[in-house]
Amino acid sequence: MPDSLSIKDNRTGKSYEIPIQDDAIRAMDLRQIKTSDSDFGLLSYDPAFMNTASCRSSITYIDGDRGILRYRGYPIEELAEKCNYLEVAYLLVHGELPSKNQYEEWKHNVTYHTMVHENVKKFLEEFRYDAHPMGMLVSAVAALSTFYPDAKHFSDENSRRLQIHRLIGKTPTIAAFAYRHSMGMAYVYPDNDLDYAENFLTMMYKPPASSTFEANPVLAKALDVLFVLHADHEQNASTSAMRSVGSTHADPYSCAAAAAAALYGPLHGGANEEVLRMLEEIGSKDKVPEIIRQVKDKKRLLMGFGHRVYKNYDPRAQIIKRIADQVFEVTGRNKLLDIALELEKVALSDDYFISKHLYPNVDFYSGLIYQAMGFPTDIFPVLFAIPRMSGWLAQWQEMLLDPEQKISRPRQIYTGYPERHIPAQT
Ligand code: SDX
Repeated sequence: MPDSLSIKDNRTGKSYEIPIQDDAIRAMDLRQIKTSDSDFGLLSYDPAFMNTASCRSSITYIDGDRGILRYRGYPIEELAEKCNYLEVAYLLVHGELPSKNQYEEWKHNVTYHTMVHENVKKFLEEFRYDAHPMGMLVSAVAALSTFYPDAKHFSDENSRRLQIHRLIGKTPTIAAFAYRHSMGMAYVYPDNDLDYAENFLTMMYKPPASSTFEANPVLAKALDVLFVLHADHEQNASTSAMRSVGSTHADPYSCAAAAAAALYGPLHGGANEEVLRMLEEIGSKDKVPEIIRQVKDKKRLLMGFGHRVYKNYDPRAQIIKRIADQVFEVTGRNKLLDIALELEKVALSDDYFISKHLYPNVDFYSGLIYQAMGFPTDIFPVLFAIPRMSGWLAQWQEMLLDPEQKISRPRQIYTGYPERHIPAQT
């Protein structure tokens, strides 16, 4: 049997053979289905892109029914156990895990670009004392485009590579500066002798007067694993923003700022912050039944639950839950954990949640770990953006090199007025 659809247009009686490739049809093949020569042809209508593949990609594979997540073919469980974040960032961007020499060169190049221009510091200092750090990050990443006009040469591989090093290197620095700004503390510059997560924790927490601060190695390792888990996730909303803005040939800093802005939303990367606020609002295990009732009455969402793709469980959530135990051994048990565990237990046994495939996602437990590690709640989405930068950049580069891609410009179904005219002046 041929890999095709046989479509009969009952409006005209005409039949069409639409080829099927990779379990998909090309939406453009529908345009031949017309009622007359002047007819535009059929569109596919797919609000929120529930069933639309926007690209071909070899970066990340997700099987939502079986809870599978792989970066470049490697299972997330193996990467979380055997690789550090910079190795995974290399894998996402280059397609293979780095050799020892490749890793050393990559680490040097990223580390070499952790500093930001002093004017970026001044730019951040102008924000209100209570500015949300994600708003500061989005703004500062966009501002970087004004410091590196050479980034417009995206078709030059060396230029792309330099911007990728700069963005992966500078994002933690900007994030830490935004935190220090919110605390009214002097900024701590990167220490390039430290590993990626360790350097970030040091810029965050090193007391200004201290010269001997050392990030807790258990917490640094836990954060590095969390960075691995958050590095990419195929065509999520923020990655789609990165690709869409990149398709106009905007510079990668402007693309990354758009992606970070998309991630900021509470339905996406902002969910980890909302989970903590929800758990703090619940306050105790005995309030859980009331929250469940409100969710079932559709008065609120259960933040940290549900996913567009995962319909049984988010494999990242399971790994994060294991990391939580290691972190709490160092920091002491987070009292909100008991509420989270009770929420999960009740939800997973309730048919309302089971029937809607609502399970804990990556954001449900990560916030508990971040809070236990001393991060303020509003910086949680920033902790998502830091590692996702490498995924965004890998996807951006893949889009630019894909001969099938061009400027992203969806169509619409017009539902407005037919032509009408401004009434003559009376
Ligand atoms: C991330 O796409 C990615 O890959 C994202 C991400 C990544 O790594 O990039 O995985 C990161 O963003 C994780 C998701 C974090 N967001 C949250 O935890 C916010 C709470 N979750 C929901 O907003 C929701 O589940 C989404 C946004 C995650 C998914 O939304 P969908 O796929 O569009 O599902 P839907 O809104 O169509 O919901 C289907 C049904 C609806 O009920 P009915 O209208 O059918 O009666 O499930 C209900 C929804 O009301 N529902 C929820 C719910 N999520 C969905 N009800 C209560 N609580 C929830 N959390």
